[in-house]
Formats: sequence, structure tokens, C-alpha cells
Amino acid sequence: MNKKKDISILWEKINTNAISVKKKSLKKLFEEDKDRFKKFSIMTEDLLLDFSKENIDQKSFEDLIDFIKTIGIKKSIRKLFNGEKINITEEQSALHTLLRYNPKNPLAEHTDKKKIEDVLTERNRMLLFAENIRSGIYLSSTDKKYTDILHIGVGGSSLGPKMVINAMSPDADGPNVHFISNLDGSNLSDVIESLSPTTTLIIIASKSFTTHDTLINANSAIQWLRDNGIKNIKNHIVAITNSLSGAKDFGINEENIFKIWDWVGGRFSLWSSMGLPIAIAIGTEKFIKILEGANEADDHFLNQPIEKNIPILMGLIAIWRRNIMNYSTTCVVPYEHHLSLLPSYLQQLEMESNGKTLMWDNSISILKTSPIIWGGTGTEVQHSFFQLMHQGTDVIPVDFLIGKNTRSKIKTHHNLLVSNCIAQSRAMAFGSSKKIIEKELSEKSLSNEKLNELTKHMEVSGNKPSTTYMFDSLTPKVLGKLIAYFEHKVFVMGCIWNINSFDQLGVELGKKLAQEINEIITEPNLLNNNLDSSSAGLIANFKNKSS
Ligand code: F6P
Repeated sequence: MNKKKDISILWEKINTNAISVKKKSLKKLFEEDKDRFKKFSIMTEDLLLDFSKENIDQKSFEDLIDFIKTIGIKKSIRKLFNGEKINITEEQSALHTLLRYNPKNPLAEHTDKKKIEDVLTERNRMLLFAENIRSGIYLSSTDKKYTDILHIGVGGSSLGPKMVINAMSPDADGPNVHFISNLDGSNLSDVIESLSPTTTLIIIASKSFTTHDTLINANSAIQWLRDNGIKNIKNHIVAITNSLSGAKDFGINEENIFKIWDWVGGRFSLWSSMGLPIAIAIGTEKFIKILEGANEADDHFLNQPIEKNIPILMGLIAIWRRNIMNYSTTCVVPYEHHLSLLPSYLQQLEMESNGKTLMWDNSISILKTSPIIWGGTGTEVQHSFFQLMHQGTDVIPVDFLIGKNTRSKIKTHHNLLVSNCIAQSRAMAFGSSKKIIEKELSEKSLSNEKLNELTKHMEVSGNKPSTTYMFDSLTPKVLGKLIAYFEHKVFVMGCIWNINSFDQLGVELGKKLAQEINEIITEPNLLNNNLDSSSAGLIANFKNKSS
């Protein structure tokens, strides 16, 4: 039998068994199997992954494992690490794992000595620069220590470092880092209002060095330095890019240009020089710990058996939700204030990577691909959109994240925070008990009619799936590990869907159209009769503005 046939038979099997699983509630699944937690969770040194509250049974789980083995996931993982050109449209490898190369724990699959050397050299160069900023060896043009970093970049050139610095705020002891991403001038003007140009270092982060959002913000920020009498502007500007010539043409000194390679995707780049703002904020030692955590996750992904492999299981759970249960979104809810930017980071990671329709063989995927990723932090979201999760008409699976230990100086809140997190996953899974509601209401003197009405409205049906990630404490190492697990999950899903998770060609159209419209908007007499009536009407209305 050929492999393709095997795969489709297995997929059929998963779907067939799912028919009976779908008929069972989570409550029933837990009643039937007292060992669910044991069976559907993985415990490692610093992370517990509990997916027992997903509506999956033993048979489906085994089928999924057979399926992922048959598609040859381990071989695909080795291809990723070996640097095969798996980003086929751009004819590139996706070697982000090499960026966390750890000489103390080298991985057998990282065989390209030249690239390893390049990574280590550039890492050391970047870290030395970060330390020089932190210590004041590298001073501003007026011989002052830099107090603030204005980081200008967008997408992968911003979301990762921004999320990490936020997550690591208990460790941040360097200059303050401020992120500018939005083309809207208000973003920049709001931020520079509180900065002193004499002590601000500008980082222009753009892999391509062509992204207009970033370049226009960079030009305006430089103008701000100029307007404020900064003489040696070059001293105040640093670039992180794959385009040495682009950055040099922009006027940046070569020694202030840090390299990222064409074999690193923007959204996978925080481990490279793209991590410069992180290193400036928290220092070399902690930055290295983040890399070490990610390297441990890489080792795990490569070498753990499939049944115990966290990112593979994460990918399988996500596929189960998306393709078997047909849920179209995933809500990410960290019960950790410092992970508030994780949902938006994961939005790019997952949706830009796997928001595709075409497969490797250029045919259209019959399976739905990336779910919509969204979320917010607990407990705040309990008081906003959780109503819909509990009683709305859509089923929205949730990924909960919570630390066993808090790094907050105020420790007394933590038990209640953890209780809320576990309570939400319980409420989602098992809902409410009619009897208890009735009992509670019976203590109020209500008419029977009112009691019945309220009981109905208060009932929560449950049967909403969730997975909980309980990590030890949000240290640099744990953070690095978690992010790398999510990166690998995205890769696993891409392998199952047969799509290239490493390009993002769909975003190009919008950029091109914006340029064309900008020409029409900025040229007073230019009209374009080829435009649709809506866009033409909007442009005409804009051009008619009074000021
Ligand atoms: O427009 C999408 C995108 O290309 C992302 O993939 C990327 O992370 C972001 O823009 C920024 O690109 P660059 O780093 O080249 O400025």
C-alpha cells in the first residue's frame, strides 16, 4: 500500500471514530475514564501540559499518533533542523533553531559549521554592543549614557522582542525600550513626547529594509533628532537587517548594522540580532538563558518520542480542534500579566505561517488551515468576552497558561489567580449544575415562574474544550522554551496540512495597492479611472477634505 493511501485511510479512521466522541460530553468522558488526566497530560521538569479537557478519547488519540507517525513527522523535523530548503517559494531553509545554538548542548542535526560560526560571531557582536549600551561604554553623541531605546519595526521585527521584554519585565534593568510599529504618526509622536533626544538610541529593525511603515517612522524619528540639534546622528542609529546595502544607503554606519540572515523568517527571528532590544533591556546572561530554554525545546522536539513530544502533541490537539471538531478560532489566555502580549505574538506566528490555501504540490487544501488566534489575559477577560465562551453559540477552545510560581513582588494574589484559571477550565468543560442553581435561587423568595426563568438563563452547558500550560515560573529559560514549543507546533500543523509555513506572500498585494493609492492621493490632479467605485469614492472624499 502506498503512503498517501495509508495517510488517507488513517485520516478516515480518525474522522469515523470522532463521530462517537462527538456524541460524548467532556463530563461523560471524565466519568468513563478516571485516569484521563494521567493519560492526556505530559509533565516535564518545568512544564505541565494538560489536554485532558479536550474532547478526545484514547482511541482518537492513538489514531492521531499513528497518523502523525505515518506522515513522517520525525523526518520533516530533521529536514527543518538540517537546513533543507523547506521554504519552497522563497527557496530558503528555515533555520531559526540554529539561532539558539548552544555549544554546551549541540544538536546532531545542526551540521553547517560555517553557519554556526556566523551565528555565534554575530550573537557575540550584538551582545557586546548591548552590554556597551547598558554600561555606558557606548555613549550618546553628547557623551551621555543612553537611557531610552526607540525600537522601530513591525511584525516579526517587533512583536517577538516586544512580547519578550514585557514578559521579562521583572528582569529589566537596562535602558527603557519603546516600540514603534504603526504607520500612524501618532504612535511615534506619542512616544517621543516623553523622550530626550540626547539620550535616545534608535534601532531600525527590518529584515528587508523596504517596509514603508518602518522606513517612514525611521525618517521621522531621525528628523526629530535633527530638529533637536543632535549633531552626530549616526551615533544614535542602529539597524538590524538582512540588507546591509539598504541600511548603509539609509546612512547607517556599518559597525552599527547587525545582521539577520535570509534563512531566518521575521516571525522566527527574536533569537538573532533581532533580540538586541531584549539584550539591552535584560542583559547578556538572561538573554542567553532564553536561548538555552529554546535549545532545550529544540532538543525535546527532535529527540522525544512522539507520544511524549510536547510540540507534536500541541500540533495534534490544534488539528483535532480545527479539522475534526471544526472550531474556527483558538483563544489564548495567559493568567500572567507579563504575558499580555503573547496572544498578539502568536497571532502573527500562527496566522502568518499557516494562513494558506495552497499546498506543497500547488493544489488547494481541502482541509481548513490556520484557525483565528486571539485572546487576552486572565482574569481581565473573565469580565469581558468570557460570557460568550460560556453561553454563546460558538465553541471556542482555549489555551490557558499559568505559572506555578509568580515573580510578582506581591505574592498574596497568586493562589486566587491560579484558582481562577483552573475554575475557568472547569466551568468551560463541565458547565453548571441545574440542581445547584435551583438550590441557590430557592433561598431567595422568588415566584416559581421567575425561578424557572432564572435557572434557564443561569445554566452553563459546558463541554467547551481547553488545554492548560502550567509552567514553573516565568523565568527567561521557561519563556524561551514556551516560545520555541509554539514555533514547533506551528511547523507540525504546516506539515499535516502540507503547506509552507515560512512565506507570507499574501501580504504583498496590500503593500502594492497602498503604493498605487498613495500616488493618486498625493498627486492633486491624478485620477485613476480603473478603480472600483467604492475606492474611487473614498479617495475623492479624502481629497475633498478641508485641511
Ligand atoms: O508584511 C509582513 C512582513 O513581511 C512580516 O512577515 C514581517 O515580519 C514584517 O512584514 C516586517 O518585515 P521587515 O522586517 O522586512 O520590515
